[in-house]
Amino acid sequence: SAANQVRIVEVGPRDGLQNEPKLLPAATKIELINQLSETGLRTIEATSFVSAKWVPQMGDNAEVLRGIRKVPGISYPVLTPNLKGFESALEAGAEEVAVFGAASDAFSLKNVNCTAAEAIERFKPVLKAAQKNGVRVRGYVSTVVGCPYEGAVAPSAVVKVVEALYQMGCYEISLGDTIGVGTPGSMRRMLDEVTKAVPAKDLAVHCHDTYGQALSNILVSLDYGIRVVDSSVSGLGGCPYAKGASGNAATEDVVYLLHGLGLDTGVNLDKLIQVGRYICTELGRPSESKVNRAWKGA
Ligand code: HMG
Ligand code: MG
Repeated sequence: SAANQVRIVEVGPRDGLQNEPKLLPAATKIELINQLSETGLRTIEATSFVSAKWVPQMGDNAEVLRGIRKVPGISYPVLTPNLKGFESALEAGAEEVAVFGAASDAFSLKNVNCTAAEAIERFKPVLKAAQKNGVRVRGYVSTVVGCPYEGAVAPSAVVKVVEALYQMGCYEISLGDTIGVGTPGSMRRMLDEVTKAVPAKDLAVHCHDTYGQALSNILVSLDYGIRVVDSSVSGLGGCPYAKGASGNAATEDVVYLLHGLGLDTGVNLDKLIQVGRYICTELGRPSESKVNRAWKGA
């Protein structure tokens, strides 16, 4: 049944790599995405159409999006902060995009150079153009429980942005704990309010693991009926405009948790482990996934 199914949004190729200081060859990113396409994942965020001056690692966005083998039934969304990004993404063949807002002005200014409310205004023409072109739009809200510059964030500030994105036509809203400061306590206080504004079936959680709370926070979100979880293979990543933020919950760990709960993800964990090992070898570092480090084979 639907209640038993969880869709994982793999954000490793985008969120996972955007903060890497050393530029990775596009071929490595393409290989990563192609391997992820073989694991049973249905959504793989591929890249972002942002300014290469701001995020040099994503400067090869069109090359990556054009270069991957697109498997039918898998969606490959890309980030688009404004109409310019959307137009480039469309030209490179994007069929799904994501706009990204924030619940805190201080973070929004650092991340996209405008206030949270101004960012929403920039999304309106993106949604319009997307609708015209049959492109699906996902919406992110960052700093849903805490901001690196403003501290704790009020649930009411989150609700405001969530409602704006939802009413604009985003089919799903992903709630980002950008710097991983949330706990089951602050997640519940936030979700109590947000699930009153938008049905849980149209929400996702996007938990960074900076304080080691991501899996607990994901578990809490399941209690609210949320069935879409963002994660990053081997826990890669962080946001360049949130200093010290570590990667997302590792997809291997999330899959292990969900399967342990008897939930169905469609993901072959053994195959995913191999992909995590591939990209960590390429990056020359150990996996952030505890499941990956412990894994001895299916
Ligand atoms: P800006 O400088 O304010 O933009 O940047 P502008 O409109 O004033 O234009 C300045 C120049 O940028 C112009 O070029 C534009 O053409 C160009 P010039 O005339 O100087 O040569 N430009 C662009 N180039 C490429 N792609 C574009 C684009 N737009 C304008 N789309 C901008 C505004 C949003 C572009 C900039 O601030 C930016 O790229 N920021 C990067 C944001 C980012 O990628 N952050 C990380 C992703 S969000 C995240 O990680 C959080 C998330 O994971 C959830 C969570 O964890 O909470 C999603
Ligand atoms: Mg993120």
